[in-house]
Amino acid sequence: MTTGQAATPPGAAARARAATVTAVRAAGAHDVVSLRVPDAEPWGRCRPGQFVVVPVGPGAGSVLPEVHWVAGVHGDPVHGTTVELLLPVDRGTEPGEEWRLLGPMGRGFAPPAQPVPVLLVGHEGGAVPLRWLAEQLRDRGCPVHVLLSASDPELHLDLVHLRRYARSVVLALPEDLPAALERLLDDPAVDPAVVYAAAPRPVLREVAVAGLGRQRVVRVAALDLEAPVVCGTGLCGSCDLEVGDGAEGSGGVLRPCLEGPVVPGELLVDGPTR
Ligand code: FES
Repeated sequence: MTTGQAATPPGAAARARAATVTAVRAAGAHDVVSLRVPDAEPWGRCRPGQFVVVPVGPGAGSVLPEVHWVAGVHGDPVHGTTVELLLPVDRGTEPGEEWRLLGPMGRGFAPPAQPVPVLLVGHEGGAVPLRWLAEQLRDRGCPVHVLLSASDPELHLDLVHLRRYARSVVLALPEDLPAALERLLDDPAVDPAVVYAAAPRPVLREVAVAGLGRQRVVRVAALDLEAPVVCGTGLCGSCDLEVGDGAEGSGGVLRPCLEGPVVPGELLVDGPTR
């Protein structure tokens, strides 16, 4: 089974590209923002789990770049290539904004080689890559099941969209997530061969321990974009993840924005998380 990572080598596409906001559509606590990009080539290989960086511009109100998951890529001969992002409503994104983008960045989630059942586990806005992944996996014939946690029901991500592509969507409070995860893994009606997760690191660790303990393939997006990201381009080290000796290769430090963000769950089982 091929579930390894992605088509674009890390850092290979780190060149600022122009983008124009063409549409903004409300989806709960987020806006679905469409950006027209002139250069289709790098986006055709983009996968869920990859991200974009909006560098700090002159006169910007923040010293940190914006870093966002790619939530979809669409292309047609009439409209060209459109990149979709999910941004917080309070960002106030408006059609017509001109952006400079670095991306697509990093390694994304690779689909399984066979149409096997899959379980997607996410937490609040960090689940953005799973929204697009659910579409792709369903289109490949995979029965998709989704488990989402949120501290407030309003913080669940675009459930209408997810329910369109998933056979089941289970919602849980963060403290109930481990038990809900174990129930789904042990449910013969779900029986996932692969577990994909996008969530804060402690949740990823729980997913990895539970999934690998049941001999499931586990792939996680080990970059928490809900927390401030200092660079997103591998320069600052603020996203570094300590991995243990039992991980692939050897123990040490992984830099998810450069060497991931999608990595095997094994990396989080044996190493400490923070
Ligand atoms: S966020 Fe700076 S190295 Fe990853």
